[in-house]
Amino acid sequence: MPGMSKVLVTGGCGYVGSHALVELVRVGFDPVSIDDLSRSDESILDRVERITGRRVPNVRVNLADPAQARRCFAAHVDAAAVVHLAAYKRAAESVERPLLYWDNNLNSLLNALAGADRHGIPAFVFSSSCAVYGQPVELPVTEDAPFGAPANPYARTKQVGEQAIADLAPRSRTRFAALRYFNAVGAHESGELGERPYGEPDNLVPRLAWAALGRLPSMVVHGGDYDTKDGTCVRDYVHVSDIARAHVLAIRHLAARPSGDFAVFNLGSGTGTTVLEAIAAFQRATGRKPAYRLGPRRPGDTGAVFADNRRAGEELGWRPELGLEQMMRTAWQWERRATTKEK
Ligand SMILES: NC(=O)c1ccc[n+]([C@@H]2O[C@H](COP(=O)([O-])OP(=O)(O)OC[C@H]3O[C@@H](n4cnc5c(N)ncnc54)[C@H](O)[C@@H]3O)[C@@H](O)[C@H]2O)c1
Repeated sequence: MPGMSKVLVTGGCGYVGSHALVELVRVGFDPVSIDDLSRSDESILDRVERITGRRVPNVRVNLADPAQARRCFAAHVDAAAVVHLAAYKRAAESVERPLLYWDNNLNSLLNALAGADRHGIPAFVFSSSCAVYGQPVELPVTEDAPFGAPANPYARTKQVGEQAIADLAPRSRTRFAALRYFNAVGAHESGELGERPYGEPDNLVPRLAWAALGRLPSMVVHGGDYDTKDGTCVRDYVHVSDIARAHVLAIRHLAARPSGDFAVFNLGSGTGTTVLEAIAAFQRATGRKPAYRLGPRRPGDTGAVFADNRRAGEELGWRPELGLEQMMRTAWQWERRATTKEK
């Protein structure tokens, strides 16, 4: 693929999106962010510029609106790829506001698919999630495992989203990939980029950092009676910069595939980590001991999920490079900076 190929990154001002912009610039692509800034702001692009030396433009468009999306894609028919990350992602919020999630996550995907398909944009990469598996029967979970009962409407939007792609693919000139991220954590090594929670974070690692900073009175570990080695939930943590790199590899992979191809990849470390092990890694990496207490199970939580990541290794050449302590150290560096400086 020639250098400077244009890549449309929807949700480019978000957590994964901003890291993806950095990786795309680093390997010579020309990314354009498409983000309505509903859950982010454009100042992140100043930070991307400080890291890469390149100003990435943002087109402020609500992709769930068909007319706005159509106009936006018509202005970028020369794009080599679409990386579609724009979505809402808070599981608990999706339980409270299911139609918001159906509307935003599915309409933005359908409009982005229509844009890529109409203009024959060669590659389309969709951010999916390990949430599609529900509670897997076999672990580590492979891409061939069936979808499980979705724990919440957010998870269902990812299942339905993948099904929409599977239906479109055989009729399309575009090639498609769904990347099923496991638990994305950590922050850019520079300290410039990280996860900016919309409200109080509901994920473990930002909550640990907030607890260590005294921003949360104490942290509750949800459930100590799961059938796991210490009774707490097992998850697969993977550094956001490793996830960002996988998008570059997926775009290159799709360029060599036939039209209509649809490939699915797990992006996880391959290792299951209990909540208590994650807390211990946080302590080792940061020297801080966050206060926590054991509470009851949280409805909708699955006991254990971790990835079989061999397909991404074999077909994309993707191997996660950053370990749990680096995830914790960079997440901490990012959160601590926020207490001294406006992010
Ligand atoms: N962070 C994770 O651990 C994780 C895990 C699995 C899957 N994912 C998926 O990865 C993608 C990115 O997640 P993230 O963590 O970067 O989230 P994020 O909230 O930081 O970023 C999402 C971005 O999309 C934008 N957006 C939302 N709706 C939009 C719309 N209708 N039009 C235009 N822009 C819109 C938001 O303003 C935001 O900047 C999401 O699809 C999410 O479901 C994330």
